Amino acid sequence: MKRNAPLQLLANLKKARSGKNLSVLDLLSIDDLSLGDFELLFSLSEVFKKFVKRGEKKCELLKGKTIINFFNENSTRTRSSFELAGKHLGADVINISGSSSSGRKGETLGDSARTLDALNSDLLVIRDANAGAPFQLSKLVRTPIVNAGDGWHEHPTQALLEAFTLRERFGQRKLKYLFVGDALHSRVFGSQVRLYKKLGYEIRLAAPETLIPKNVEKFGVKVFYEIEKALEGVDAIHAIRLQTERAAGKFIATGREYSKNYCLSPARMTLAKKDVAVLHAGPVIREFDIRTEVLESPNCLVQKMVENSLPIRMAVEWLLITNSKKKIKPW
Ligand code: CP
Repeated sequence: MKRNAPLQLLANLKKARSGKNLSVLDLLSIDDLSLGDFELLFSLSEVFKKFVKRGEKKCELLKGKTIINFFNENSTRTRSSFELAGKHLGADVINISGSSSSGRKGETLGDSARTLDALNSDLLVIRDANAGAPFQLSKLVRTPIVNAGDGWHEHPTQALLEAFTLRERFGQRKLKYLFVGDALHSRVFGSQVRLYKKLGYEIRLAAPETLIPKNVEKFGVKVFYEIEKALEGVDAIHAIRLQTERAAGKFIATGREYSKNYCLSPARMTLAKKDVAVLHAGPVIREFDIRTEVLESPNCLVQKMVENSLPIRMAVEWLLITNSKKKIKPW
C-alpha cells in the first residue's frame, strides 16, 4: 500500500460524502431510497473503486466493527462480496449459513437475529427465502440490516451495482432497458424495476405470459411476448435466470422451448444496437439464458458487475455503520 493511501482515501470519501447520510437506517428496499441516496452511494462507490483498483485493498474505516452475513439461502457472489467489502474496510466479518445455524434446531429467525444483536453486531446482512423477512427482523433488532435477497421480493444492492455499472458505461442518460425472462420469481427484477422507474428509464419486458408479474405495467413496464419485437433500439438487455429453486419450471411448458424463445443468442443480438449492454445478475446458466458467444462478447458487462459489487457494498456498509442517526433499541 502506498504511504498515506488511507489518508487520501479518507479525504476523498469525506469530499464525496460531504457530511451526508443515507436517508434510511436499514437498506431493505429500493422504495425507501431517494435520488439523493443513489447519488451518494454512486459517488462513494467511485472512490472505493479507485482505491480497490489501485490494489490497496485494506483500510481501517470500520476497524473494531462487526458485520454478520446471515445467509439462509445459497449464494456465491453476494455473500463473498459483502464479506470482502467488510474485510477491505477493516471490519471483523462472520458468516452464518442456514444449514449450520440454530434455525435447524427450531430457533425462530427473529430469535436468531436478536441473538446476533445482543452480541453487539454493527451490521446484519440477511438473505432469506421468505419475502419480507429482513423487514420483520429490522423491527426486532438495533443493528442496521441489509436485505441481501428476500424470496421473490427484492435484492436492492444487486440493482444498485448494476445501475452503477450502467452509469459507468452510459453516464446519466435515461436508458431504454429490456428485461428478458422470469420476472415473476426474480427479486433482482423486483429491485431493478423500482430503481429504473425512479431513474426515468424506458422499461420493457419480454417473457412468456406465465412469468410476467401481475400489474407490472404500473411500474411503467411495456410487455412483449416475443423478444424479437422488444430488442429494437434498446441500450441494455438484462437476461433473468429461470428461478428453478422457486419452482419456475412449472410455469413453462419445457425448458428447451423457453430457452429457444428467450435465450440471448448471437442471431437475436443482430436485432439490437451494436453497442447494446448485456447484463445478468448471475449465476448465469450458459446456453440457456445467454449463449457463450454473447456472454464472452465485448457487449457483456457481467464480470464488470461482479467487480462493481465490491465498491457498492463497501459504500453500503460504510454508510450504514457510520450513520450519525442510530436505530432505537427495540427491547
Ligand atoms: N446475484 C446473486 O444474488 O448471486 P448469488 O446468489 O451468487 O449471491
